[in-house]
Amino acid sequence: MNVLGIDVGGSGIKAAVVNTQTGELLTERNRIVTPQPSTPEAIAEVIKAQVEHFQWTGIIGCGFPAVVQNGVVKTAANIDNSNIGRNFEQLIFETTGCHAFVINDADAAGIAEARFGDAADKNGLILLLTIGTGIGSALIHNGVLVSNTEFGHLILDNGKTAERFAADSVRTQKNLSFEDWGKRLDKYLQTVERLVYPDYIILGGGISRDLKKYSEQFTIETPVIAAKLKNLAGIIGAALFAEYKHTTIEKSSI
Ligand code: BGC
Repeated sequence: MNVLGIDVGGSGIKAAVVNTQTGELLTERNRIVTPQPSTPEAIAEVIKAQVEHFQWTGIIGCGFPAVVQNGVVKTAANIDNSNIGRNFEQLIFETTGCHAFVINDADAAGIAEARFGDAADKNGLILLLTIGTGIGSALIHNGVLVSNTEFGHLILDNGKTAERFAADSVRTQKNLSFEDWGKRLDKYLQTVERLVYPDYIILGGGISRDLKKYSEQFTIETPVIAAKLKNLAGIIGAALFAEYKHTTIEKSSI
């Protein structure tokens, strides 16, 4: 099935058409800057612009940077607070006329890595962390996602929220060297390691490309690898989620 995968982020809203069978992108990725303030209506207008860009009429899978339950946004750490309580599946349908399925952005990336990435041949407990404007998490046990884990909001023993201490946005805002930022990330990884003891940690987000530049700072025992699908994991995973939901709904209505 072909699905328009959309990844709503704190700084960009990225989209591409995905072949869910192979995980391949059938188009170039198109990025539009996230509107400020990032109200639901403003985000929906950008999604509409993406739909028009791809002349899309099929189903949409959308990764969203917040807790999402049954299409409803529950939190808003890096987007406008007015998103809380909005049903984005409904809003996207009203704005674009396309059926949409919405999932937490890190969970989307986790699904994609578990299906097509390096996690595909690994059993056990895999923790994917997306490091960007915020920190997102996806916990996958033997290929099954435990959704909405929100480990980016853990409080570290220095009293700071993990994503306010170690997100990539903190590195750029504070102009930290890879060495200094790597130490911060390690402090965070130590905390997650102690709490969930994953078999592998996969780092996603654009910064995972530079893993070698800061992995020397890591003191944890858990192996840390870079996401194979890089910053496309969110788009691909959102499409996989939509395909899954769409076919489940179709089956249950027969
Ligand atoms: C949000 C998560 C999201 C992550 C990455 C966090 O601030 O709470 O839901 O997955 O940012 O976008």
